[in-house]
Amino acid sequence: MGFLSILSFAHKCIEERLKPGDAAIDATAGNGNDTVFMARLLTGGGHLYSMDIQQAALDHTRRKLEAEPAESRERVSLHLGSHAYMASIVPPEHHGKVGAVMFNLGYLPGQDHAVITTAESTLPALEAAFELLRPGGIITVVVYPGHPGGEREAAAVTEWFESRPQSMAQSFCYRFMNQRNSPPFLLAVEKRHS
Ligand SMILES: C[S@@+](CC[C@H](N)C(=O)[O-])C[C@H]1O[C@@H](n2cnc3c(N)ncnc32)[C@H](O)[C@@H]1O
Repeated sequence: MGFLSILSFAHKCIEERLKPGDAAIDATAGNGNDTVFMARLLTGGGHLYSMDIQQAALDHTRRKLEAEPAESRERVSLHLGSHAYMASIVPPEHHGKVGAVMFNLGYLPGQDHAVITTAESTLPALEAAFELLRPGGIITVVVYPGHPGGEREAAAVTEWFESRPQSMAQSFCYRFMNQRNSPPFLLAVEKRHS
């Protein structure tokens, strides 16, 4: 058996940590795959906030959700806007109660590849996400350094994970070492129990 793919490992980390009643955030809705994945995991009154700056992404995500059972669909709200403003998208009652935040960086496949995530909004979004997490909650980021602009964002995001104080967080990188052409990699951070 080979190693888990980058995305499968992100999903496994999320799956192991989301608890009944947790809120969750998909910071880059895109085609809706991660939104559907997290919506299926939420139980016990949890809610998923899924956001994107492109209406096309939210339309794809809504269509994917339509194939899901009503109880899973009803737990999701879709938001057109930048993840940099997630603290104002997530209502105060869920601040500090978020069990997982997923970022899947880069561009929306099948749409304009010039619309990409950038460090200018990704870094404030990571700060906001960390504030919103409950102790033991996790942020996962699938990073794509291979497209124009991707390498710069990857460096900034990696630096953000490396600089989390150990007293507050534990972070790791999951990366295949012998793949060529700037393959994607996973960064994750877990908020420590104080
Ligand atoms: C690789 S796709 C996400 C894939 C998605 N998670 C899925 O499961 O299909 C990256 C998405 O990030 C979105 N994006 C770019 N900048 C953003 C921002 N500032 N806030 C939220 N989404 C953003 C893009 O529009 C694109 O849809």
